[in-house]
Amino acid sequence: MQTKIETINAESLRYAKEIIFSGGVVGMPTETVYGLGGNAFDDAAVQKIFAVKGRPADNPLIAHIHKDYDLSKIIDYDPPYAKALREAFLPGPLTLVYPSTDKVSKFVSCGLKTLAVRVPSHEGAQAFLRAVDIPIVAPSANLSKHVSPTSAKHVYDDFAGKIPLILDGGESEGGIESTVCDITGEFPVILRPGLITKEMIEAVVGTCGEYAPNLAAGERVKSPGVLYKHYSPRCQTRLFADREVLDAIAYAKQENGKGKRVCVLAEESLGGQIREAGLAWLNFGGNEREMAARLYALLREAESVCDELVAIEPKKKDGVMKGVLNRLKKACNSQDIPH
Ligand code: TXA
Ligand code: MG
Repeated sequence: MQTKIETINAESLRYAKEIIFSGGVVGMPTETVYGLGGNAFDDAAVQKIFAVKGRPADNPLIAHIHKDYDLSKIIDYDPPYAKALREAFLPGPLTLVYPSTDKVSKFVSCGLKTLAVRVPSHEGAQAFLRAVDIPIVAPSANLSKHVSPTSAKHVYDDFAGKIPLILDGGESEGGIESTVCDITGEFPVILRPGLITKEMIEAVVGTCGEYAPNLAAGERVKSPGVLYKHYSPRCQTRLFADREVLDAIAYAKQENGKGKRVCVLAEESLGGQIREAGLAWLNFGGNEREMAARLYALLREAESVCDELVAIEPKKKDGVMKGVLNRLKKACNSQDIPH
């Protein structure tokens, strides 16, 4: 199969629609990361997404809708505080998990009695969703466990020959996946941290929890995706804490000395120090937004140019950095489960 990369216009949208209504999957841009989209009502299309991606069968998908889509077509119950959340943050990088059964293909929610719904703000995504006018389920468009994609080229690198079309909407601005927030209880609970933070949600509805399953006690995890090894570049990785800068540099020099190609991923303020040590530096950026936007592209760059990635945790840990650190730790194989 030939994989086309097309900018978003009337013609490419017509082609995308044709693919979706004949049960195929399409690479699509969003403001967070690119997705691999298929018709949420079509069992075979949903199963195809799992197969193409190599995704574990118990990890549910997010349904993406355009901003005027009638939510009641796909959910059973709209919690009282949900409207305030939608008005504050949607369209945007917040996925809401509603009570829902039997409205879309049974393969979407993997047996959970909920449906995750997202209204992306990316204009190209909105144009595509409006053209098809159905919910499109879309996981991040990377092979399972690999680094998430923030450009059409990243999607191509993972799926060339396996999908017919990638809609090219430029580089994803946000850079990490949406905040996933369960709204089936009395107050919202964050299942996966992202660009919409706990503090931002609290400012709108007062209370917001953060989910951490007690796995030792055998509790069933609410959002299966949080358990998996994820976001991993195909090179060795080693993560150092922010107070271990000197150790990280010493380790990187030692490995470099053995003939390994080593890159050091670190925030902007450390760049001079790393370069003075004669090491290759991947500039993570100077603030949380930059770090979110650059993370996945830098992890993909690392796997193509180095044998080992030495990453140094940024100093800032709260707000958007919770989501960034969550991804960085998982990418570097740390034991930081579930967030
Ligand atoms: O920003 C994003 O959310 C991107 C773009 C493409 O929209 N999508 C994305 O999808 O990150 P994916 O499949 O890579 O991650 C979906 C996450 C997983 O952690 C999954 O377990 C969780 O959402 N999820 C999906 N449906 C759920 C549900 N019904 N209940 C709880 N968690 C759910
Ligand atoms: Mg993913």
